[in-house]
Amino acid sequence: MTDRLILGQTLAFASDPFADGPAAATHERRGGVLLQDGRIAAVGAADGLRALYPTAQVTDHGDALILPGFVDAHAHYPQTAIIASWGKRLIDWLNTYTFPEEARFADPAYAADVAGRTLDLLLAHGTTTVASYCTIHPGSVDAIFAAAQARGMRVLAGKTCMDRDTAPAFLRDTAQAAYDDSRALLTRWHGVDRLSYVITPRFSPTSTPEQLSALGALWAEHPDCLMQTHLSEQTDEIAWVRSLYPAARDYLDTYEAHGLLGPNGLYGHAIHLEPREIDRLAEVGAAVVHCPTSNSFIGSGLFDMGLRARMRVGLATDTGGGSSFSMLRTMAAAYEIAQLKGIALHPSELLWLATGGSVEALRLGDRIGRLAPGHEADLVVLDLASTPAIAQAAARADTIWEAVFPTIMMGDDRAIAQVYVAGRPVRG
Ligand code: GUN
Ligand code: ZN
Repeated sequence: MTDRLILGQTLAFASDPFADGPAAATHERRGGVLLQDGRIAAVGAADGLRALYPTAQVTDHGDALILPGFVDAHAHYPQTAIIASWGKRLIDWLNTYTFPEEARFADPAYAADVAGRTLDLLLAHGTTTVASYCTIHPGSVDAIFAAAQARGMRVLAGKTCMDRDTAPAFLRDTAQAAYDDSRALLTRWHGVDRLSYVITPRFSPTSTPEQLSALGALWAEHPDCLMQTHLSEQTDEIAWVRSLYPAARDYLDTYEAHGLLGPNGLYGHAIHLEPREIDRLAEVGAAVVHCPTSNSFIGSGLFDMGLRARMRVGLATDTGGGSSFSMLRTMAAAYEIAQLKGIALHPSELLWLATGGSVEALRLGDRIGRLAPGHEADLVVLDLASTPAIAQAAARADTIWEAVFPTIMMGDDRAIAQVYVAGRPVRG
C-alpha cells in the first residue's frame, strides 16, 4: 500500500489532560500524519514530514483538525431505528420502544440492514470504534461483526442476555443458552480481524441469579474479554434491583456475587452510586461509562465526573437511549452535565474522553485513540468552521482550544471532513 501523508492541524495527546492539563497535547498549526499499512508511521510538522517522505501520496486537509477517530464506549446498535422516541423513562422506555424493536432482530436480514446502517451513521459522525450491545439473537452479533469486517472497523460487541420473566417471553434465553451462545460467539469472533467479543448481561433486573453466574463463569474462563452491563442508571431501577435481589448489599453486589465484577468490567451509566460501590469499582480497577445525552433524554440524572479521580471513565452515546450518534454532541452534553455539577471540563478533557478516555475504558490504549506511531490509523478530520454559527465563533479564537470548542458544542456530522479507517479514507 502506498504511504499516505495527510496534512492539517494536529492535536496529539502524549498523556491524560485530566492529570497533566492541556499541555498533555501537542498542537501543530501545520501538521501531518503519515499512514503506512493501516497504521500511523509518523506524526509531526508538515514540512518536515514532506521532506522525509517525498514519495508519499499527500492529502491536504487545510485548516481542518486531525484527531484520532472517536470511540463510543457504550451503544445499542439494535436501537438505531428507535432513537428519539418520545416521552418515557427507563423501564417504560424499554418496554414500549426497545423490546419490540429488539424482537425484530430474530430476522438476520433486518439485523444486517440495521448493523450496516448504524456503522455508516457512526462513520459519518467521525466514530471509528464502538462497543455495542446486540440482542438475545446470536445472529445480531454475527450481523454487527460482519458489517464491521466489511468496513475494516475495530468493533466490540456481545449478545445481550436476558432470561428473567421481567423481560418479555419473546426476548428471553436461559442461563444455559446464554452461556452456550455467548461462548460460541466468543470462539467465532473474539480476536478475528479487528473484532472483540464482550460478555453482555443486559442488567441485573432482566437476568436470574443463575444466568448472572453462568456469564460470570464464562468470564472467568475468558478473563481477557471485556464484560459490559448497566449499573445504577435510574433510582426506580435501583429500587427494582433491591426488590429482585433482597440479599444483595447494593446494585453492584448483584454483579459481584455472581463473578461479574472485575478489572475488565464496563459499567454503563453509574450515576446513583453508593460510597461502597465507588470504593469497590475503584479497588478492582473497573471502568464506568458516561452516557450524557441518554442521561438527560431518559431523565436519569447527573453523572459525577469526579469519579475520574478514582477510576477509568469512558464516554458514550448509549443510542437509542442517547439522543445522538455524534460524539461531538456527546462531548457537549458531558460539558453541560459537568457544569450543572460545578465542573467546567476543558476542551482537552472533552476530546480526551471521546478518544483516549474511552479507549482506556475499553483497554485498547496500545492500539487506537492516539496520534502516535504504531497506533492503528483510525482518524477523524474536523472542519472547525462547518456552519456559519460555528465559523463566526471560531473566528475569534486565539488558541486551538478556543477554535475547537464551538465545534464541540455546536458541531454535528457536517463538521466531519473526512474519516480514515485503518488508513483508508471513508469518503471518496
Ligand atoms: N438498561 C438496561 N437496558 C438498557 C438499554 O437498552 N438502554 C439504557 N439506557 N439502559 C438500559
Ligand atoms: Zn445502554
